[in-house]
Amino acid sequence: MPYDLIVIGSGPGGYVCAIRAAQLGMKVAVVEKDKTFGGTCLNVGCIPSKAMLHTSELYEESIQLFPKMGIKIGKPEVDLPAMMKFKDEGVDGNVKGVAFLFRKNKIDAFQGIGRLAAAGKVEVKADGKTETLETKAIVIATGSDVARLRGIDIDEKRIVSSTGALVLGEVPQRLLIVGAGVIGLELGSVWRRLGAQVVVVEFLDRILPGMDSEVCRQFQRLLEKQGITFKLASKVTAVDKSNARLKATVEAAAGGAVETIEADIVLVSIGRVPFTEGLGLEDAGVKKDNRGRVIVDAHYATNVPGIYAIGDVIAGPMLAHKAEDEGVAVAEIIAGQAGHVNYDVIPNVVYTFPEIASVGKSEDELKEAGIAYNVGKFPFTANGRAKVNHQTEGFVKILADAKTDRVLGVHIMGADAGNMIAEAAVAMEFGAASEDIARTCHAHPTLTEAVKEAALAVNKRAISM
Ligand code: FAD
Ligand code: NAI
Repeated sequence: MPYDLIVIGSGPGGYVCAIRAAQLGMKVAVVEKDKTFGGTCLNVGCIPSKAMLHTSELYEESIQLFPKMGIKIGKPEVDLPAMMKFKDEGVDGNVKGVAFLFRKNKIDAFQGIGRLAAAGKVEVKADGKTETLETKAIVIATGSDVARLRGIDIDEKRIVSSTGALVLGEVPQRLLIVGAGVIGLELGSVWRRLGAQVVVVEFLDRILPGMDSEVCRQFQRLLEKQGITFKLASKVTAVDKSNARLKATVEAAAGGAVETIEADIVLVSIGRVPFTEGLGLEDAGVKKDNRGRVIVDAHYATNVPGIYAIGDVIAGPMLAHKAEDEGVAVAEIIAGQAGHVNYDVIPNVVYTFPEIASVGKSEDELKEAGIAYNVGKFPFTANGRAKVNHQTEGFVKILADAKTDRVLGVHIMGADAGNMIAEAAVAMEFGAASEDIARTCHAHPTLTEAVKEAALAVNKRAISM
């Protein structure tokens, strides 16, 4: 009997889609080319990087904060193999969790490379054998891969992508990072905390393009205080591997001044590209755009009837939660329901210290769109809990429509910003005004009181400053 749905790829898009479809009564199969389920996110992305961020943050805290707190532990040392084991155990627990959920939901899992053979047919190639599965619908959830720099070969030993940077055998003395995006700043923070000298070369004249520029300016200053060096408006044009130490040629982005920077490891983190290799898109007639992304309509349908696509392989932010929500939506659409994702309310978090979290529009976007807005800002220096924790860096900024007071964007830089942004996302999903947040009782003493105070500040009535 044919399947109702075959999902190709078991990342956050694919596995969530499969589970939701099974909940809706469909007979579902998942095809995954890698040995473990969970895709980029669980194996080499969100999960291992957050493990390294967590352990390295605690290590740094034990050096910088413990003495102030009156905790004597002697000189902390990094045991890198043990730290890696801690990370790997976390990854293992997560990928096994997906396998458990497949069994629980009676989803058939096939290990092999999935290829679109014809309408309603998926070929699975593994160990030189090919099996053909039949299905009513197919969801492509094949994710993304590392973007490469022309002429600079990623060997995952000395010139690494995020994947290699998560398994380094020792702390590099000098780490050169190409790209001041999310990966560069998160993994740069990890290795800086563990003892590396970190230099970040960024093509643009700012870090974290796309995020609120006021937040990013202040954030860059904090990262510089922590010891990260930035070379903005610059590009790496070559890396010489012939010596024990790598020699990177760095030029002004516009051309001109050239310098050489030595490093033990170069991390290339200039973005990610959709992954569709071996999928047989061309043979099946599925159209891609000029950036290699599978083209879909508002219902995730490709131009070929019965074939859908979600997650990093289609347009939009390359985020796990965006892929997950699309997975749920497409399963519901295939089941005849009204699945939907609100792209105006997708939170974005950078898990450095302090964390940066945002949802909705930035000030730059509102200005460009000519939308009149009010700003409410509240610094963590005035928040009781932040003060008592000695973690007062950062602020909350709420942007509300000047006429209606509806919240248009929330930007938080501070400890635990990634958890706090959920409140803003819920408020925006319900179309809240800043007044609604301001009149909602927030527990004391918590960092979330800064969100309430920023909402009060929209109408110039913050209490604690
Ligand atoms: P993927 O997770 O890439 O999964 C695709 C799967 O499809 C893979 O398992 C692949 O093996 C499989 N596949 C591909 N082709 C085939 C085929 N032909 N046959 C069978 N299987 C196939 N996002 C966040 O939201 N938060 C974070 O903190 C975060 N941190 C990250 C850190 C790093 C270092 C990286 C690299 C990424 C991070 N991301 C984060 C991004 C996140 O990992 C992706 O947005 C997310 O994994 C996309 O999910 P997906 O299901 O679309 O694709
Ligand atoms: P990115 O798109 O976030 O940043 C890439 C940076 O490299 C940009 O600042 C860009 O201007 C710069 N750049 C591009 N070409 C360059 C060049 N030749 N020289 C110097 N700089 C150059 O991409 P990144 O950091 O690789 O991450 C990929 C994706 O993974 C992100 O877009 C994000 O969606 C996802 N991710 C999400 C995380 C999170 O949610 N916390 C964490 C890590 C990754």
